[in-house]
Amino acid sequence: MLTLNRSDFPKDFMFGTATSSYQIEGHGFGGAGPTHWDSFAATPGNVTRAENGLRACDHYHRFEEDLDLVAAAGFDSYRFSTSWGRVMPEGRGAPNPEGLDFYDRLTDAMLERGLKPCATLYHWELPQPLADLGGWRNRDIAGWFADFTEVIMGRIGDRMHSVAPINEPWCVTWLSHFLGHHAPGMRDIRATARAMHHVLLSHGRSIQAMRGLGMSNLGAVFNFEWAQPVDDTPEAIAAADLYDDIYNRFFLSGVFKGEYPERIIDGLGEHLPKGWQDDFGTITAPVDWCGLNYYTRKIIAPCDGPWPAHTEVDGPLPKTQMGWEIYPDGLYKFLKRTVADYTGDLPLFVTENGMAAADTVVDGACFDPDRIDYINQHLQRVKQAADEGVPVQGYFLWSLMDNFEWALGYEKRFGLVHVDFDSLKRTPKASYEAIKRALSK
Ligand code: FCB
Repeated sequence: MLTLNRSDFPKDFMFGTATSSYQIEGHGFGGAGPTHWDSFAATPGNVTRAENGLRACDHYHRFEEDLDLVAAAGFDSYRFSTSWGRVMPEGRGAPNPEGLDFYDRLTDAMLERGLKPCATLYHWELPQPLADLGGWRNRDIAGWFADFTEVIMGRIGDRMHSVAPINEPWCVTWLSHFLGHHAPGMRDIRATARAMHHVLLSHGRSIQAMRGLGMSNLGAVFNFEWAQPVDDTPEAIAAADLYDDIYNRFFLSGVFKGEYPERIIDGLGEHLPKGWQDDFGTITAPVDWCGLNYYTRKIIAPCDGPWPAHTEVDGPLPKTQMGWEIYPDGLYKFLKRTVADYTGDLPLFVTENGMAAADTVVDGACFDPDRIDYINQHLQRVKQAADEGVPVQGYFLWSLMDNFEWALGYEKRFGLVHVDFDSLKRTPKASYEAIKRALSK
């Protein structure tokens, strides 16, 4: 059981659940064009069991049933994303009418159920033809992304409750171009620096494009990991501070302060694109809210080697199926720090929080007490922050249902609803029932 109910939160506090297009829709359906995730997944060794998103949860055909589940749980809103390659198979030029029709139907289906549509424009499936042109390394992506923004929001923007251009800039750039864990699987410091800057420039251009369409309630969604030094030596503290700058502060600083942290310029400056200092007018295009995605913390130690010369070490706390430590205090600390250092009075939303577990269905039921406990602990920290005056106005659970967890394939289950990936049957888990009860009170 959850110990908190809806009535424990401020009036109008919004509860939602989140998904993303490539992870659930089934990219093989409806005339979508190839993306860099298809190529990445087709390359041996990149994805567990060489799985991909071609069928995923077949949400493309089953979205009505899935939205019924969102509504029946009592959620106020649904955070979803629009696939660029579904809307524009070449990434530029002629849109795919079937793709536009799909998001149109999806939007109306949310509204019919009383759900507020909260869109993310880009949740990672870059059209392959744009990846072929250098993807996030190419400055032209800002214009391509602004064009995509106009096409999709020209169709559904009139009915969106809120929109954020890009999900988790750190994952789009560092995880995918420096660590190489996600598509396009690069490990290149220069590509990383360029992607980091261009992703923010693209964010700004997209916000401007939506303002041009007369839209409001536009935000930005960042991911955060609390950086804990392995010990209290100055070297460990410096290593954790640099991790914090790269992961948590770089993108917030760009959008809300129009600058990059000094320590990052020291490491990446020579690789940033020429004239990067001149782009902050666009990058800081005003937003109406800030979204925080939060799952875990990392223990950071210094190591030998070139910049950034740090490494992650195993931590002592209980872990989820991802091997991520459960550290709810981090969410509280990020909510407080974001207000104090970056956003002031701007509304905040927890746009993702949740955990993976090796859930199974036994006799038609799926028992996931660890997830209930995880949600409980994190909701308590959100409430604590709200009680102390942090303008946090909503909380979205990742995720509605088990789905394609990127490089980890279908093995890691984050859903409130279990999905059998053979039959595609949906089975609400005990956590789904717990949320439903809490939202009714
Ligand atoms: C976030 C992503 C989401 C999912 C969760 C577990 O970083 O936004 O797509 O992979 O992690």
